[in-house]
Amino acid sequence: MNLTDKVALVTGAGSGIGRAVAVRLAAAGAKVIVADFNEDAGARTCAELKKSGAEAAWRRTDVSKTDEVQELVAFATRTFGRLDCAVNNAGIQGELASTAECSEQNWDRIVDTNLKGVFLCMKYELQEMLRRGSGAIVNIASNFGLVGSPQMPAYSASKHGVVGLTKTAAIEVAARGIRVNAVCPGPTLTPLAQAVIEDTPGIIDAINSRLPIAEEIAQAVAWLCSDEAVFVVGGIFPVDGGYVAQ
Ligand code: NAI
Repeated sequence: MNLTDKVALVTGAGSGIGRAVAVRLAAAGAKVIVADFNEDAGARTCAELKKSGAEAAWRRTDVSKTDEVQELVAFATRTFGRLDCAVNNAGIQGELASTAECSEQNWDRIVDTNLKGVFLCMKYELQEMLRRGSGAIVNIASNFGLVGSPQMPAYSASKHGVVGLTKTAAIEVAARGIRVNAVCPGPTLTPLAQAVIEDTPGIIDAINSRLPIAEEIAQAVAWLCSDEAVFVVGGIFPVDGGYVAQ
């Protein structure tokens, strides 16, 4: 995969899948804008990329805040002159609670980050990409954006929302040179997944005898960002070892 001279923005790049995506895109030659609302984590990823010889810059951003997202996209173009790829990955799991017990506060927090955050990022990324007439966006949904998950009503609803948003934006902008797709990881060994793994005995056996690591999700994301995926539009790609195919 060759992303030489492409400028890529990754949200939630301070940890887990986002960090692995940033590393993978940089290894393929991209200049990477690291965004995260955790200052230490974001700065750490950026320093790691620079140490590996990549061009990278970092900006603290809360994806649920309009002005911060708008400023992030402006920062990307100010820093590297353009925006070619965007990976909208920042997400939270929130508290585990059934639909009958999920608090409104928990619901709002999860939906604000996972769904509104992706909407806001796409809105401003697309404005920039439409100006240039090219670009690729990859949203990180979840296998729980394709099937339900007990104890995770807001999470599952937010990720189903990301799937719908991806398809809608994809058909809006395909004819203008921009590809929008989504990757749906299965439970992946990152800090976010710890609670689900601990709460669901047997989940690893139920899937594939092992969980993917973040780097394996990043491979699929990097391909979708690259020109090799030239005719791939509005695709929703499970990367889950066959979990949702069962
Ligand atoms: P993680 O918790 O390791 O990393 C998430 C990163 O996003 C953190 O650095 C965090 O500071 C950042 N973040 C959270 N809220 C933010 C906000 N409002 N603004 C900016 N940054 C924010 O999580 P992980 O596992 O890497 O998850 C990444 C994405 O993948 C999420 O969207 C998650 O829902 C999705 N996913 C993860 C799965 C898993 O099993 N780990 C499975 C399916 C989907």
